[in-house]
Parts: sequence; C-alpha cells; structure tokens
Amino acid sequence: MSVLVVGSLCLDHTLFVSSLPGRGETAIAKTSLVSFGGKGANQAFAAKRAGGEVGFVAMVGDDEAGEAYREHFMEHGISTEGIISGSDHPTGSAFLGVEDSGENLIIINPGANHTLRPSDLDRRCDLFAEAEILLLQLEIPLETIAHACQLAKDHKLTTIINPSPWDDSFNTADFPCDILILNEHEMATLVNDQRWKLDSSLLDRLGIQTLIVTRGSKATLAVDGAGKVLECKPPMVTPVDTVGAGDAFTGAFAVALAEGKALEEAIHFANRAASLSTLKPGAQGATPTRSEIDSA
Ligand code: RIB
Repeated sequence: MSVLVVGSLCLDHTLFVSSLPGRGETAIAKTSLVSFGGKGANQAFAAKRAGGEVGFVAMVGDDEAGEAYREHFMEHGISTEGIISGSDHPTGSAFLGVEDSGENLIIINPGANHTLRPSDLDRRCDLFAEAEILLLQLEIPLETIAHACQLAKDHKLTTIINPSPWDDSFNTADFPCDILILNEHEMATLVNDQRWKLDSSLLDRLGIQTLIVTRGSKATLAVDGAGKVLECKPPMVTPVDTVGAGDAFTGAFAVALAEGKALEEAIHFANRAASLSTLKPGAQGATPTRSEIDSA
C-alpha cells in the first residue's frame, strides 16, 4: 500500500443556490445532491483515482449510511478493512451550500467520526506497517491524530497533515509531521501573521521538511528542505463547485510523492487534479482519474 489515510467520512447533503444566503436570510435551492464526502474519505478516494494503492481507517455508525459507504469504497477498489463500525453515534454527515460562483459553506455533524479512538488505530497497526505515506486531516479527535503521528514515526512513514478544518489547538509540536499542506487562511492562522512569507526559517520553526500553501486559482507556494521556494500555477478553469478541491490536491500529491516525483512535479500533478475536481458538482464524484490528470 502506498498511502494510508486515517480520517473522517460523511454523507454530504448539498444545496445549489444562485447566491449563498447571509445570516437570517433564506435562499431557494435550484437543485440538490446527496453524495459521499468527508475530508478523510475524499482524500483516500482522490489518492485511489490518482493511481495510488490506498488504505483507509475511519469510524462509521451502525446505520444505512455506514453500510452504503462501505459498499461505495468496495465498488471503487478501496479496502474497507480499516472501516470500523460499532459507534453508538450515526455516520457523519455534512450540510453544504454551493453558489453559482463555485463558493461554498459547510456545516458538519461529525457523529461517529468523533468516536475514532487511539486504541482503534492500535488494532489496525498492520495497515501502518504496510504503508509508505500517512495522510491526516482534522475531522477526527485530536488525540487520535496525535497517536497516528506517533504510529507513523514508529513505522517510519512520511506523514502529511492537512490541518483542515482548522482547529486552534493544532500545532506541529504536538502533531509531528514531515509535510504540511494548508490553504492561505490556515497558514496565516498557524503562523499568526496575515502577511506571512515562505522561507526556510519557517520549516525550522515548525519542525517540518516541506510546507505547501494552496491558494485557489493563484499559484501554489511551497518551501522544501533545502529552503527552495516554489511557485506552481494551477491550470485556469471556470469552477462549478470547489468542494473537495483541497482534498483532490492532497490525495493526488500523496500519490505523486509515493511514486518518487520531485516536489515541483508532484505539486503540478496535484494542482491539475484539484482544478479538474472543480468542474463537476460534489466532492468524490468530481475527482479526476489518473489518465484525466495526466492529460490535463
Ligand atoms: O473538504 C470537503 C469536505 O468537507 C466535504 O465532503 C464535507 O464532508 C466536509 O467534510
């Protein structure tokens, strides 16, 4: 297995509107979609579509949604041996609004995702032993993420954290990793500086090897272990739905890294996957295949 994802899964309920309502306002939807989502599952799915061999550890409720998710992953060739049931909470769900410009807002009901415990990972140590790269996000309990970082260290994996959705308790001292992938707003919060600039001193300060900052349609910025700063422009597209674009980037990046691509090439590969993922509605349903990424 090349990439192990430990994270969340949700059933996404999306309403498409002309314009997102403000507080206290009501909007009438043009159409709606129920689809498979959750940042962990989206990244696992994106990594699989990008050509990776993927393992996934997550918690579902004892309900139809959990069963449907298991079947969905089996259909797409993603191993479900790490999907645990038995939580007394329902499978996670997310409620999304997407407007014509492609912008979105999301409210998550974590449900079973918040009952994934460190001890659940100990029972899946075999998956850590088989993997090269561990991929983490922040939709499961922080103590479970910290434990996953420790298991990854024990098994000498490269750990990538995508600290999203942002949690003020996140820091790289308590969640040691090799690579951070975050968006520009998360970056400003992490370093407590709206006018942040990438340089190698940041890597020393954060104790990481590589820092990657995605910026939507603007160039992705990165600084590598040698202190080299990269600027990689994503392809120009007209997005219809940006939900899951960050997940498509992260999943594809992990696969490129596992394949031994150099950092710049891996970022271009991930940028192409993320841009393509904005051209269709929904998170996973919009995730490009390997051949689509290669020919973009
Ligand atoms: O990153 C997009 C995802 O965030 C959605 O699929 C939704 O489930 C939320 O977790």
